[in-house]
Amino acid sequence: MHPFDEITVDQLRAAGSTKWTMFPDAIGAFVAEMDFGVPPAVADVVRTAADTQAMGYLPAADRAAAKRATAGWLARSFDWQVPEDNVHLLPDVLSAMRIAIQRFTPPGSPVIVPTPAYMPFLTVVPALNREVIEVPSILEEDGRYRLDLDAIDAAFAAGAGLLVLCNPWNPVGRVLTRDELTDVAEVVDRHGGRVFSDEIHAPLVLDDLPHLPYASLDARTAGHTITAVAASKGWNIPGLKCGQMILSNDDDVAAFAPYATDAGDTVGLLGGRAVVAAYDKSQDWLDNVVTYLRGNRDLLVDMVDQIPGLRISPVEGTYIAWLDCRELDLPGGPAQFFRREAGVALTDGNLCGAAGEGFARLIFAMPRPVLRKALERMRAAVIGR
Ligand SMILES: Cc1ncc(COP(=O)(O)O)c(C=O)c1O
Repeated sequence: MHPFDEITVDQLRAAGSTKWTMFPDAIGAFVAEMDFGVPPAVADVVRTAADTQAMGYLPAADRAAAKRATAGWLARSFDWQVPEDNVHLLPDVLSAMRIAIQRFTPPGSPVIVPTPAYMPFLTVVPALNREVIEVPSILEEDGRYRLDLDAIDAAFAAGAGLLVLCNPWNPVGRVLTRDELTDVAEVVDRHGGRVFSDEIHAPLVLDDLPHLPYASLDARTAGHTITAVAASKGWNIPGLKCGQMILSNDDDVAAFAPYATDAGDTVGLLGGRAVVAAYDKSQDWLDNVVTYLRGNRDLLVDMVDQIPGLRISPVEGTYIAWLDCRELDLPGGPAQFFRREAGVALTDGNLCGAAGEGFARLIFAMPRPVLRKALERMRAAVIGR
């Protein structure tokens, strides 16, 4: 037995997360959090802060340490050399997305969001009074998604200023290849467009594939990209609120310089120190998690196979499964059906864009026995309907 297998639903509910309290009668599989706790080094940071009553603003030395830790992790993990000064601490990845749109695109220009997409991409953009151009991606026979480059090209031609790239791709689980990223770069470059590259799931590649930071590909991509990374998903600390925005060219660094200090001040002491504990001291913890997630993914694929009419896209990275329920034609949509009939709380695919209609998103970062139970209940619900 793996120690994660022994974590119980009662313990998870008692801890009080959104995932385990919003639907008290259901298995929570709709918020991108893991049920495996946090690395010991991160817990130490929080414990020490409590013991010393230190809960204030982030001191300059800690800010520098967090930037250094981020740059060190990017260099070690992905061979991407980023000057520490080009790392900006922000509360979260979506804050970086807002900055990318507001500071680095022509005023009023639409934003391209390939779908299926992480749900907030579709709401953050209109909240900034910008139009979203949804570009449905191409679904292959084997369930893999491919970006529709012709449609992205057309959206730039129609005046869009920015493409939102999510890699590894929530919710469809793809880890994009060098060729795919290079093809994206060509389209963006042709139009003088910009890319916001959300790489929050970079630590969570499950297959034997490299994660390639888009901005690290070549001078072109470095020149047109704003990147966001975070320890939030890989080390399970989104509530500590410290993401990182990476700038990768001199013009952007100069343009952002007047705001850089303010940006740093939006992160607190706990988040800043936790990031150092995660990136610098918790690689073993992450490796263990990734191995466990791989096992969960394999179980999921096997069990989905036993549910007639249900299909799953290959999950190369993330801990998110994208389930094709279209053939089942479930009354009220997949999420409502499985919550009502199986007691499993999923995200309905239609929140991920029009291309997600008839699909559902399942977070499988849970104890394996709980995952097994969720899938057994879903199978029974489908067969018994
Ligand atoms: C692709 C992606 N981007 C951003 C976020 C949100 O990150 P943050 O809380 O840092 O804004 C998530 C959370 O699930 C995500 O999956």
